[in-house]
Amino acid sequence: MNIADSEEMAAHLLARGYMPTENLDEADLALINTCTVRDHAEHRALSFLGRLRKWKRENPKRIIIFAGCAAQRLGEKLKKTFPYLDLVSGAKEIDRFAELLDNSALFIPSGTQENKPQSSITGYVTIMRGCDFECSYCIVPSVRGPVQCLPSAEILKNAAQKAAQGYKEIVLLGQTVNAWKEEGKTFADLLNEVSSIEGVERVRFVSPHPIFITNDFLKAVENNPKIARHIHLPVQSGSTKVLQEMKRGYSREILLEKLDALKKRGFAISTDIIVGFPTETEADFQETLSLVERVHFSAAYCFKYSPRQGTPAAEMTLFPEKILEERLDILLNKVKGLAESAYRAQLGKPVQILMETPNKGRTSDNFWAQTQKEYPIGSVVNTEVVSVEDTLLLTRD
Ligand code: 5AD
Ligand code: SF4
Repeated sequence: MNIADSEEMAAHLLARGYMPTENLDEADLALINTCTVRDHAEHRALSFLGRLRKWKRENPKRIIIFAGCAAQRLGEKLKKTFPYLDLVSGAKEIDRFAELLDNSALFIPSGTQENKPQSSITGYVTIMRGCDFECSYCIVPSVRGPVQCLPSAEILKNAAQKAAQGYKEIVLLGQTVNAWKEEGKTFADLLNEVSSIEGVERVRFVSPHPIFITNDFLKAVENNPKIARHIHLPVQSGSTKVLQEMKRGYSREILLEKLDALKKRGFAISTDIIVGFPTETEADFQETLSLVERVHFSAAYCFKYSPRQGTPAAEMTLFPEKILEERLDILLNKVKGLAESAYRAQLGKPVQILMETPNKGRTSDNFWAQTQKEYPIGSVVNTEVVSVEDTLLLTRD
């Protein structure tokens, strides 16, 4: 989502004559797009902003824009700590970013720059913003606001535009992407419509919520090979009690049902897990470990619980950092080999590769694969896995 938001804001800067650069020293403007989901993310953004003090002093004409979720949370008070900051643009204001730029008294060069030639086969299309859940640890609903679904007509137009530009894989984006709906249309319908756009070879989506893994969705998947067989489905915990206290809206049993249904349809599943939610007991933690053992995720991103001001969980008593660290270590050890074993399990299987370089690409279930022959970038190669090296599949083609 942040990549897509950054692209959207960058497009407005390109339209006003700016060009991207890798080199801060030659830049006239710095746009920092931020995350606040954990304290650490916000901290990194703020310390980068702090380092820009010197950059701005070297040339006071330089412009600094602080955008995204941390900007939304901290707002105008940022200017007190960082008086050299020119513009704050919160995550809720992304639709108004162009207007904000034009209304600010900032020096904006004239003219337009062409969008850089694409360097990837993947195009991002935002289909919804915000979140209607109230997970007790999560700051997203307060910084992003309630769900706003984009109309399907606009989504299909954006996706068709990407396809016409040569993007072969469309990634649909939203905080709870599979909650997308419109009168008379479900998320499953949308997946089918996007995948039938000319030029689209594969459709992915990030990030879904387990609750919306419906029969309707599973049926769409069965009938549509262009829907990628990989899902990043954050489970957060394996304990029904903790899930309840997190207000996730599902139990361990419901979760396992959904995960099994996905596995049965050939999905590789990656996930997010939070360790050390304030009420997590040793027994709860063991439930999470046993879930990881049972499900064989292809990857698991593990986070130490981080209290976020204003969320219900932030009022609960934390337990000692030492236990938190210990649990994270144990979990990280458990998930360390997941990717390698998921790759090993692909041996002998038929795969469909979307080529990202002349001899490498990703399979539908999101494994990195290398072909023997060379193929055009963006083409689809149907072949079979003959050997596996760490996290690379080698094919027969
Ligand atoms: N502390 C730790 N991790 C969090 N996440 C969201 N909020 C918090 C928090 N307060 C994690 C969840 C989510 C991912 C994007 O960040 O696992 O899926
Ligand atoms: Fe946060 Fe829960 Fe919404 Fe995900 S579903 S963004 S974790 S409140």
